[in-house]
Amino acid sequence: MADTPAGSHAHAYTAPQAPDSAVTRGQFLTLSSVGLGAMIGAVIGVPATAYVLAPLTKEATFKSVALGPVTKFTSETAFKPTAATYVEDPAEPNTSAGLAWVHYTGKKNPDWLATDAMFVVFSNRCMHLGCPVLATPQGFACPCHGGQYDTRGVRTAGPPIRPLDRFQWEVQKGILVITQRWSVDYVNGQLTYYPVKMPGQPVHTPGPLGETVPNVLYPNVTYTHGPVPKPQ
Ligand code: FES
Repeated sequence: MADTPAGSHAHAYTAPQAPDSAVTRGQFLTLSSVGLGAMIGAVIGVPATAYVLAPLTKEATFKSVALGPVTKFTSETAFKPTAATYVEDPAEPNTSAGLAWVHYTGKKNPDWLATDAMFVVFSNRCMHLGCPVLATPQGFACPCHGGQYDTRGVRTAGPPIRPLDRFQWEVQKGILVITQRWSVDYVNGQLTYYPVKMPGQPVHTPGPLGETVPNVLYPNVTYTHGPVPKPQ
């Protein structure tokens, strides 16, 4: 029996017994922790999952854009491409503006795929993280992390992982018009075209399974397209 002060009529305290069905404090804390963890997981996980999956279903249609009269681009002698700004979608001028570097080869063929095509039209988007590249006498240079490209747009130094994208083009009534965009790489020495990939994304999935595995780590094809041009 518990001791009580001398002469005291106090009785030892007995805690009321909880009914068997009631949630104990420990159980409540455990359930709260699990619930909170699930909520945090949902807040983080749902947008991340949506980010990974959404690009697989999103494709845009490249809208043809006039860059200007052909004569504006034909004064180049040594490698000195002409900058041509454009807005691909007039309804979205802030998000669809871009800059193409138009290189005049000195040749005359208006077929963009011909080996003697008169122009090569490069994208200015660096293939490291997407900064705008600048034309130099040696090719192109990226001011962000030192990426360097030669006059074919092929990376020669720094972190970019592949050549600059190129634009398909046509001459329509004396106007140079870009009509599609392609990612490119040199495979066995041949210029090879691919559906557009994002900066930093390989044009072909590495590993033995290659293209049979969807590339879910990056946004997928960003433009709808017809047949991919044959290697040059
Ligand atoms: S974005 Fe061009 S080198 Fe990094």
